Amino acid sequence: MKDWVAERSVFLKEWIRAPLVTASIVPSSKTLARAMARGVRPELGPVIELGPGTGVITRHLLEAGVPEDQLILVEVNHYFANQLRKKFPKARVIHDSAENLGGIKFDQTPAFAVSGIPLMSIPNPKVAEILKSVFSCLTPDGVFIQFTYAPRCPVNKKLQKRLGLQGDIFEMVLRNIPPAGVYHISRVNDLRSKR
Ligand SMILES: C[S@@+](CC[C@H](N)C(=O)[O-])C[C@H]1O[C@@H](n2cnc3c(N)ncnc32)[C@H](O)[C@@H]1O
Repeated sequence: MKDWVAERSVFLKEWIRAPLVTASIVPSSKTLARAMARGVRPELGPVIELGPGTGVITRHLLEAGVPEDQLILVEVNHYFANQLRKKFPKARVIHDSAENLGGIKFDQTPAFAVSGIPLMSIPNPKVAEILKSVFSCLTPDGVFIQFTYAPRCPVNKKLQKRLGLQGDIFEMVLRNIPPAGVYHISRVNDLRSKR
């Protein structure tokens, strides 16, 4: 069986098992994965990926120049996490939920977190925990890159304000099922350090 057919059938199986967590019946398209990876600057060190699933965005991060041993893959689904360990043996795979990242130690502080987790189907208090936990791991001017199927930033304005964040649309991707928006979320200017 071709790899992409196998990946689609695994994804569908995991969606049937846990629809709200998997949140899509198919993995992201290559076009969306490329748009997610485009915002990352590989020369700035390690990159966190949240909810890599079958690894379609992970592969585009590698293609964009992020070394495999600089990837930290955080996946809550046990089956996906095991598969990711086999597919990307040099990456650090963390089988846990994104809000538990806070205590994790890194050799170098990551400047980017790339996320496929379904923020729109997660209650607001947990979204806040996830964002606090991830931003505590990033450099002061770190960027959280998130895609969404919703027609707005998946972190609402009230929560952005409360956490001192701002979300900006980076790219709309029509070649995806369903079409998606890629957002860059970062700390508001006055909280950032100058590079
Ligand atoms: C819509 S799928 C995206 C998968 C992949 N990134 C892609 O674009 O094809 C959502 C992924 O996020 C994972 N996930 C959901 N909630 C999570 C959480 N709180 N922490 C880590 N991973 C999570 C799911 O298991 C699933 O792999």
